[in-house]
Amino acid sequence: SEISNREAKEAVAKRVAALVKDGDTIGVGSGSTSFLAIEQIAKVVKEKRLNITAIPTSHEVALSCARLGLPTASLSAARPDWCFDGADEVDPEFNLIKGRGGAMFAEKLVMASSGKAYILVDGSKFVEKLGAKFPVPVEVDPRAVHLVETKVMEMDVNDIALRMAVEKDGPVITEAGNLILDVTFNHIGMTTEQDLNAIPGVIENGLFINYPVEIMSV
Ligand code: A5P
Repeated sequence: SEISNREAKEAVAKRVAALVKDGDTIGVGSGSTSFLAIEQIAKVVKEKRLNITAIPTSHEVALSCARLGLPTASLSAARPDWCFDGADEVDPEFNLIKGRGGAMFAEKLVMASSGKAYILVDGSKFVEKLGAKFPVPVEVDPRAVHLVETKVMEMDVNDIALRMAVEKDGPVITEAGNLILDVTFNHIGMTTEQDLNAIPGVIENGLFINYPVEIMSV
């Protein structure tokens, strides 16, 4: 249920806040679970008077850090010691689908730059096979949308949908000014992440295969 999911997310947020050490530079993921973690981290930072720097993965989370009084730096100016993030799906090998929030490009940059990544999830995120519940989001340069659709159709896919905005007419525009194609695969394999990124015009996709992540759940 929603309530037990929230309780699970809050318990995980407290565990991640307990990892914060003075001087840490921390990559901060997007989504509701990451938000709970930032709230807990802000509390600990205040209580213990720690100096930390947050590297946000979206405007949304940058604004949350500002509101909570956490100093931020961009990935071009600082390197994260570690990071945390949520996920939409986690398979038994700890491969992930991310990007319901559309921030997977920055999330992947931050995770790839971090020595260690904690993925904060409640039980609803675990799947036997990636793609069980969510499509794979693919961030695409607007000029390449038709090209990418054509090339993705040649893969083992069932459906491709241009992600549409909810509170405005037209498509979702990412923070980098790109579009998102949500791709439903019949099969996601070990090379699907690279195969997608090899298509000209694809910026990044929401598959995180074989990342050295530690899953934190309750
Ligand atoms: C953001 O782009 C996503 O990758 C999030 O990490 C994911 O959607 C998890 O969100 P919740 O913590 O809200 O479930």
